[in-house]
Amino acid sequence: MSKSQAPDGIKPLQPEFDATRDEGPLYRGDKLIKSKKRVADHGEVFTPPWLVEKMLDLVKGETERIDSRFLEPACGSGNFLVPILQRKLAAVEAKYGKNAFEERHYALLALTSCYGIELLADNIAECRGNMLEVFAQYLGLTEDDDLYHAASHVLSLNLIHGDAMKMTDADGGPIMIVEWGYIGKGKFQRRDFSLKSLTEAGSLKEERQGYAGQPSLFATLGQHPVFQPIANHAPMNVRELAALDGAA
Ligand SMILES: C[S@@+](CC[C@H](N)C(=O)[O-])C[C@H]1O[C@@H](n2cnc3c(N)ncnc32)[C@H](O)[C@@H]1O
Repeated sequence: MSKSQAPDGIKPLQPEFDATRDEGPLYRGDKLIKSKKRVADHGEVFTPPWLVEKMLDLVKGETERIDSRFLEPACGSGNFLVPILQRKLAAVEAKYGKNAFEERHYALLALTSCYGIELLADNIAECRGNMLEVFAQYLGLTEDDDLYHAASHVLSLNLIHGDAMKMTDADGGPIMIVEWGYIGKGKFQRRDFSLKSLTEAGSLKEERQGYAGQPSLFATLGQHPVFQPIANHAPMNVRELAALDGAA
């Protein structure tokens, strides 16, 4: 039976579900698998764009908040992260579009709040490339611009080639998550945390909230080792971030 002949009451499949691409080298937004082997080996099936948008609408307010942090632990080539960045950049334009300095820095802040982990090297490379393209297009950047390289450096840190289940990077070391903050006047603050400690911090925070509005016993939780960064960097401007692009 074809899609158009679906029985009454059963919604026809979306066109995206027909798409496969065993033949082509690059993922395109309208294809849901790269090869049957990759599906079998890595469970690599991409979410169709229409469904991504519906899912993001469930947390619409957060996707439109410039500094809300998103971590996609199996990010593929960015099916979720790219539209999240696009929504954040729309918010940047609405709020800071009339001031080029603010627009550039808040756009970078939007980018710094997007995180991904991906097992396969080609997918993480595509994801970084897709995110950089969207960022550069929005601001009309070329490779001569420091902001282009600052963004590329941020993406090299935030989009991690590793195993989200084991919390290890491609070299087998523990995954590090970089926390970025914009402290104004063109300066960004960077602190590094281990992913493992952040997941532990999440469970401790739940305990801290206590029950039925009762104050928690964990009043000094901020001093707990899991909340301590493994590195605290001096504030950096765009030029300083750009200088780190491609270094290690
Ligand atoms: C089902 S696809 C989803 C990709 C994207 N999130 C989407 O919805 O379109 C799963 C992706 O997770 C990656 N993956 C599988 N196991 C992983 C793991 N343990 N850690 C990180 N990524 C993983 C695969 O390589 C693949 O790119």
